[in-house]
Formats: sequence, C-alpha cells, structure tokens
Amino acid sequence: MNASDRTRLNQMPEWAALAKHREQLGETHLRDLFASDPGRGTGYTLRVGDLHLDYSKQLVTDETLALLRELAVSTDVFGLRDAMFRGDKINTTEDRAVLHTALRAPREAVIEVDGQNVVPEVHAVLDKMSAFSEKVRSGEWTGHTGKPIKNIVNIGIGGSDLGPAMAYEVLRSFTRRDLTVRFVSNVDGADLHEAVRDLDPAETLFIIASKTFTTIETITNATSARDWLLTELRAGQDAVAKHFVALSTNAEKVAEFGIDTANMFEFWDWVGGRYSYDSAIGLSLMIAIGPDNFREMLDGFHLVDEHFRTAPAEANAPLLLGLLGVWYGAFFDAQSHAVLPYSHYLSKFTAYLQQLDMESNGKSVDRDGNPVDWQTGPVVWGTPGTNGQHAYYQLIHQGTKVIPADFIGFAKPVDDLLPGLVAQHDLLMANFFAQTQALAFGKTPEEVRAEGVPEELVAHKTFQGNHPTTTILASELTPSVLGQLIALYEHKVFVQGAVWNIDSFDQWGVELGKVLAKRVEPALTEGADVPGLDASSKALVAKYRELRGR
Ligand code: F6P
Repeated sequence: MNASDRTRLNQMPEWAALAKHREQLGETHLRDLFASDPGRGTGYTLRVGDLHLDYSKQLVTDETLALLRELAVSTDVFGLRDAMFRGDKINTTEDRAVLHTALRAPREAVIEVDGQNVVPEVHAVLDKMSAFSEKVRSGEWTGHTGKPIKNIVNIGIGGSDLGPAMAYEVLRSFTRRDLTVRFVSNVDGADLHEAVRDLDPAETLFIIASKTFTTIETITNATSARDWLLTELRAGQDAVAKHFVALSTNAEKVAEFGIDTANMFEFWDWVGGRYSYDSAIGLSLMIAIGPDNFREMLDGFHLVDEHFRTAPAEANAPLLLGLLGVWYGAFFDAQSHAVLPYSHYLSKFTAYLQQLDMESNGKSVDRDGNPVDWQTGPVVWGTPGTNGQHAYYQLIHQGTKVIPADFIGFAKPVDDLLPGLVAQHDLLMANFFAQTQALAFGKTPEEVRAEGVPEELVAHKTFQGNHPTTTILASELTPSVLGQLIALYEHKVFVQGAVWNIDSFDQWGVELGKVLAKRVEPALTEGADVPGLDASSKALVAKYRELRGR
C-alpha cells in the first residue's frame, strides 16, 4: 500500500473502534482483569528465542489486542515490514533502503539493493573485522614503536558511539579484561582528555567511527587525538596508519583525514546510524569480546528478525510491544515510556534506546509531509531499576502520569561474578518482581486501614496501582540475548512508525542545530556579527564572551 493511499490514521474505522473500546474499558483495574481471568498470568505471555515476555500486567483485554491487530492490518504494517526485509527504499525522504537486517543475515542469504546482493559484502567486512580483531587481540598488530595494542579508543557520536559503548558495558564479562576500551563522543575536550590522559599512546589504537565522516564532533576529536598521539610519540604522519582505523561509508573523507583506506571498515547508506552497531561500527566491541561472541550476538539479532518476519500476529512480540505503545499514546495520553533494566550491565541500554526510538519516531509529519494529529514517539527514559526505585519510582507509583514501563531481568547473574556476590542476585530480582506487582495492583485504602494506619495518612499510603508494565525475563545475559533484545526494540520502533505513517529512518530534526552551531562559532571566537542571530541568543553570546574574558 502506498503511504498516500492510506486513510488518515485517526479516520480509520479501526481507530474509532479502539477509541470506543477505550471508553468502555473506562477505569477497569488490573485487579479486575486478573480476577476475571485466572489464566491471565500465564496466558498473556510470549516466547521469542531466549526471551520470556509477560504482558499480563498491561491494560488490555483479548478484545483490545484483537482491535490493535486490526489496526496493524489496516495500516499495512506487514506490507511495510516485507518491503523493509526485501530492500525496498522505504526511507523515502532519503531514497534509501533500510536493511540493518542484512547485517545479521546468514552468509547464504540473498538480499538485493538496486539489483545487487548485499550479503557477500556484509560478510566480507565481518571477515575483515574478525581478522583485524584477532591481530589486535593476539598482539600481532603493533603500534608505531612496535608495542602491542592495549588500549582501544572509539571516537564517534550518536549511532557511531551509543551502540558499541552500550554493548561493551552489557558484555563486560565476555571482554578481554586486559584491554582498556573507552568511548569518546562529546566535543567537550574533557571527554577526550579523560579518555587518554592515563594511556600510553604507543599502545593505543583509535577507531574513528562515522558513517558520513563529516560529523563535526567526531572529526574534531579525531584530529585532536591524532595531534596528541603524534606529539606524544614525537612521530610523523606515518605513525597514523598503525594507530588509526576508520569505520565509515565515505572512503574519500577517510583518505582526506589521513587514514589508509586499507584500514577502513566499510558499511553502506542502507544502514541507518542508529541501526549500525552490528555493522563495522561494532569493531571496538568485536575487539573486546572477540569475533565468536560478536557473531553469536548477530545470530541473536537474526533470530528475532526471523520471528518478526514470520510469526503470526498473535504471537509476534515486536508487533505486540509496538501496538501497546500506540494504545497508550493515543488512548491514555501517555507521553513517555520507561525502560528499567534489572542488570547493572544494562546501565547504558536505555540511553541507546533513546536514540533508536526518539530519533526514529520523533516526527510530526506523515510520510507525505502532512502534519499528524495523533501522538508519535514517546520520551524514552530510565536507568537500572534498583537505583530508580530510590529516585523516580515515587512518581511512577503515586504521580499523576501514565508511564508504561518495560522491566528487563535475568534469572542468573553473569558467570564471572565474584562468588560472594552471586547471592545478591536473588535480592535484585526480588525487587524486580515486587515492583511490577506494586505498580499493577497497588494497595487499596482498605488494605492500608487494616494495617492500623491513622486515617489522615491513609490517602498518602494508598497506591492506586493499575500502572502497566511488560516483563522481559531471560535466563542470562549473553551476546545472543543482547542481540535478541536490541532487535526486539528495533522492530517495535518499526511497527510504531508504520502505524503512525511516519518515516522512522530519517532524522532531519538534528540538522538545524548543526547549521546554527557552525554559524554561531565565529561569534564566540572572534566576536563576529552573525546575521540573523535573535536578540536572546545575541545577548547570551555577549555574556559568554564577557565571562570567557574576551
Ligand atoms: O545526530 C544525527 C546523526 O546523523 C545520527 O543519526 C548519527 O548516528 C550521528 O549523527 C553520527 O553520524 P556519523 O556516524 O555520520 O558521524
């Protein structure tokens, strides 16, 4: 179905049916839903690979789910899904295919863009990355002075940073602990300073990760890193080849920077930045965890790709998660979505999802450029759950906002945890289960009174409950499980973009700020008169110069 052939979302009969159903549902409480269906706790669950997904604590009934699936059919989610997997140019504003799924396709798969099978190229780059990773890990790759590499510094931003930085944290227990791996993204010089100040440049490899190789933050940091290295080593330009490699789609710019294109790991314009960490962008991660673990992670992604592509609607996990988000945004006016991992290793997981979700679905015009008059992507937020419990959970429990949340936990702690710490895992997970119970079922005034609480405190100690959550539980956090989780969220975001009829794969919204920053810089450094600078910004720039002593 063409985007322009679509009836507007909120004029579809399926939308009207959902609105009516929402009215009928009224204030129905999760307590009522569980009371009326004793099988709900086990029935409202799905299995995808190693992920057990429990949506019983969602404010939905069989009818809600059926109506949402009808909406998915009428908005042609499956047609668009098939077009994505086929390599059609569904990123229409940039005229690009959207093929991150090809990055984890098996060697024998055939996926064509403009009539050319891209899978052999994908595997050629993976093989080149593997060979390079092994050379670094074994000490065969040496720096300019002949010392083996001990430190890896990835310089990139957005999709060229968040993915590998997150996955490195997640898979710490799979990493070579004798390698130091750091990630620099911020153009604030403090970031690079803290990353390199205690490193021996002779043992340091910089990985410059940039799809375009024109991103000002990355090129500025890469240039400073090169200056630092050459100064510290008292070496000439020829040292660069041993200490700098590039991950990019832009060979010309890589060469211009002075990196030998033989040391460039390529990817393609059909990989969106925020969907790129399983491409060459994952090189720092591959060096840290080794090629076998990296490939295991890719298999995890692929498993969920296949699930999304083939599972029937009733059992399709990304479809379900996507539709639940549509439901709360449209009919409960939910503005945000919390992702709350109960694993310290997932500390950067939500930050990663913020780019994935908010850069994809933070849109306000449909695929034809018409303003939408329905909610699109939510604010995605969250930090590891136990810490959140002592900070912002109060608002989720007793505030005035609807905040659907995903709870992610694991049955087993990671393998190499100190033996004395293993027992803490049950306490961690006791909190995990307690929180979703409290959020769903709350505590009634009657229950509070029965505890002898004085009447004037009853309202304060009452928990209304009825806060929707999804629980995602897996046996343990392995490379494959990480791949499965990320693919689950990637396709969830896809489903929502399809229903909302927006282009989830462009990001024009970040451009204006970039252009203005370039224009404003001379005003800061030279006091130049910037035409078109508004009165507020002009005054702020003047104050900045005064405080900067200029
Ligand atoms: O912020 C916009 C953006 O283009 C992101 O989508 C991307 O991940 C990031 O900048 C970095 O871009 P590049 O990899 O080209 O340096």
